[in-house]
Amino acid sequence: MWMAILFSREVRKGRPLGVRRLGQDLVLWRDDDGRVNALSDICPHRRTRFSLGSLVDGRVRCPYHGFEFDGSGSALRVPAEGRNFKPPEYLRAMSYRVHEEHGIVWIWYGRGQPDGPPRYLDDMSGMDSHSEYHETWRIPFPRAVENQLDVFHLPFVHHNTIGRGMRTLVNGPLVKKIDEHSFIVYPFNEVDVGQVPRRAEDLNSGTMRNYLKFIYPNLWENYISKGTRIVAFFAPIDGHSTEIYISFHLKLTGIGSLDRLLAGLAMPFNKYVLHQDRRVVEAQDPGIFGDRLVRADSPISMFRKMFLADADLRRALGMDGPGPRGNPSMSPRGR
Ligand code: FES
Ligand SMILES: [Fe+2]
Repeated sequence: MWMAILFSREVRKGRPLGVRRLGQDLVLWRDDDGRVNALSDICPHRRTRFSLGSLVDGRVRCPYHGFEFDGSGSALRVPAEGRNFKPPEYLRAMSYRVHEEHGIVWIWYGRGQPDGPPRYLDDMSGMDSHSEYHETWRIPFPRAVENQLDVFHLPFVHHNTIGRGMRTLVNGPLVKKIDEHSFIVYPFNEVDVGQVPRRAEDLNSGTMRNYLKFIYPNLWENYISKGTRIVAFFAPIDGHSTEIYISFHLKLTGIGSLDRLLAGLAMPFNKYVLHQDRRVVEAQDPGIFGDRLVRADSPISMFRKMFLADADLRRALGMDGPGPRGNPSMSPRGR
């Protein structure tokens, strides 16, 4: 599957970038055409890091003995053998399929072949003006995603910001599956005046102007209004950490530079809200398998079904099944 792993602007021209994603060390660089390439960040010769090397004619050059590799992983030059030498096939580095679009770099993980570009939000045309931010959280990938699908933490975690109003009672929530890999969540939260929460079947999304959209494995949108969106992706570093990416897209004035400026001015607030989440999310038990979910967690259940079906990703993150910390039988007092 395609996984969003970086903002485009992180891969600068002229130098290789080393990052850890999906439990692997990767090196990414732009070739002479500006195209992003990705290899495993281990030179097949004597296994040092390409990311400490340099770029030559659009190839990455290992810092140790100067072997040069292209984006397909083929060795093209072994300096010690002279410039006419054709390097043997066994010197191949492991390469990844890369796609760059919408200011995001994706890589392909797991089995199978892509049948097209990665899925993105389909209604973002004219929404190019945005500001970007990212940071690392010490939390496994599913915890990062699930926090953004959680519709009832707002009055508690964000009581003085986006969760003002004590709308603690959750109707539904209404989760509309778009297809096998994506869904929309409509929050219908209310102030609790003693009413019984309505069931999802009794709610009408037609009345809702704002919603969350999720595209598996890691793309998320908070549709605040037509001209105001928060887009996020959660890039798994390994089984313990996740890079949180947010971009705030604005179309208020329709003047690109002004909208970009306003989006930039709003970012400190978005960061403040994000850090309200971070405090509780990083304190969660990393093992998801011990959770006891309730009705209002239905968007989280929907994500989990997709995650549990994704053996490739779980293997990459070392989250193959309930571990000791997540095993219910190991929980204190047999909760
Ligand atoms: S270790 Fe990379 S060229 Fe020798
Ligand atoms: Fe939150």
